[in-house]
Amino acid sequence: MVTTQEGAEFDVVVIGGGPGGYATALYGASAGLKIAVVEKDKVGGTCLHRGCVPAKEFLETASVLRTVAGAKEFGVQADQPAVDFSVSQGRKQKVVDQLHKGLAGLMKSRGVTTFAGTGTLLGAGRVQVDGPEGTAETIGHHVVIASGSVPRTISGFDVDGELVLTSDEVLSLEELPASVVVIGGGAIGCEFASMFCDLGSQVTVLEALPTLLPGCDEDVVRVVGRSFRKRGIAIHTGTSVHGHSPNGSGTTVSFGDGESVSVDAVVVSVGRRPLTDGLLADGTGVAVTERGFVSVDPYMRTAAQNVWAVGDVVDTPQLAHVGFAEGIVAVKTMLGEPAVPVDYSRVPWCIYCHPEVAFAGLTEATARQAGLDVVVKQDPFGGNSRARILGDTDGLVKVVAEREHDGRAGRILGVHMVGPWVTEQLGQGYMAVNWEATPEELGQFLQPHPSLSEAFGETVLALTGRGLHVSS
Ligand code: NAI
Repeated sequence: MVTTQEGAEFDVVVIGGGPGGYATALYGASAGLKIAVVEKDKVGGTCLHRGCVPAKEFLETASVLRTVAGAKEFGVQADQPAVDFSVSQGRKQKVVDQLHKGLAGLMKSRGVTTFAGTGTLLGAGRVQVDGPEGTAETIGHHVVIASGSVPRTISGFDVDGELVLTSDEVLSLEELPASVVVIGGGAIGCEFASMFCDLGSQVTVLEALPTLLPGCDEDVVRVVGRSFRKRGIAIHTGTSVHGHSPNGSGTTVSFGDGESVSVDAVVVSVGRRPLTDGLLADGTGVAVTERGFVSVDPYMRTAAQNVWAVGDVVDTPQLAHVGFAEGIVAVKTMLGEPAVPVDYSRVPWCIYCHPEVAFAGLTEATARQAGLDVVVKQDPFGGNSRARILGDTDGLVKVVAEREHDGRAGRILGVHMVGPWVTEQLGQGYMAVNWEATPEELGQFLQPHPSLSEAFGETVLALTGRGLHVSS
């Protein structure tokens, strides 16, 4: 149990109520700590209000539309479907509001105090709160910085919420643009490209690097790129974007070697920057990296005593579940309990475009670059009965294992999936990578039949040297 400093009001004051901050608060409160959260907007943060949750809700709208459009194939007669985006927007907001209410209620029931306002760390556990009712101060024996991140922009593309949008603005659109350029083909760019395309917009993706989804396994990227192109998304990789000129109702974006495209809107999804503006008063002792992230050790300790940082404000994968895990590591460490630092090289990644992408661990290329000898197998969903039943066979499961001295496949280094519902199937692949399980060990376990998860089981079995449906 943390000893409360004399005169201190809280064991822990958390600045920011997004996934990193609210996980710290909920886990800390479960451990009996007295917690305050300072939040300038709404608890739930980017993930719940302007990120993961609303984006996935719209992607689900796109999925419903695809299902209805393909219903005839199943003998189900449905009229040609159309989207009323204002209804979609209303449903998204209802989902977000319900989750927000649930989270706020949960925090309250755990005894977490929420201060409305912007927090500034003054030093020695003191946090200034600038809120709607003026300025106040609160004190914690520990302070956890969880102030998150905001979308990055690029020069020449000033975000105005009409012609030029970031994820913040896209997720509150009332109408769909008929045509859109997405700058950046990373996780957010591919999710938005997929969503806009399926909802009927003409989409062009401009990506600076030679491939979409940099960092993903190349076989997975190939499937996504093929699906996008088949659905009419124009993809330009290895291209530089020069600027745009508004032309009345829309704008013309110039890129590459004298190319241009005229669209109704531009979505900039080129990464997110840590939000530390006005966060630290002089002399707090908290160190910040050149790129603006708060520096931490593997236990989430900053350079200042009893000050911690978690979530997007630190230079680790910008994923809500990573923020959750970091909050738990920070709380355990401040309680003096043994904590296992997050292994960032093996966290689960899920991208909810169509087809979905999910992976954990090393790609085939990164394993080889690390000098590892590998054995690789993959199972396309085309041969999977459940995928055939769904009518959604685009995709594959790929497993990368380390080659043993006898040539057999040893510990599993990476699991990469693309296709139907893979974000829900990654669990066992994630466990396999993190337990360093071998195909021999995993091959003993059954997969239900018919199920999409058989593709993982089949791939692993093939890696033992004897496959059922996948050749070994
Ligand atoms: P990102 O870093 O994943 O992708 C940004 C992309 O923009 C990169 O491919 C980069 O090469 C490209 N780029 C940068 N500058 C460019 C330029 N001037 N012109 C053209 N392309 C340019 O960042 P993103 O997609 O904005 O996502 C931000 C963070 O949120 C990421 O860390 C991501 O992992 C996380 N996120 C995760 C999701 C998920 O797991 N489902 C969903 C959405 C976001």
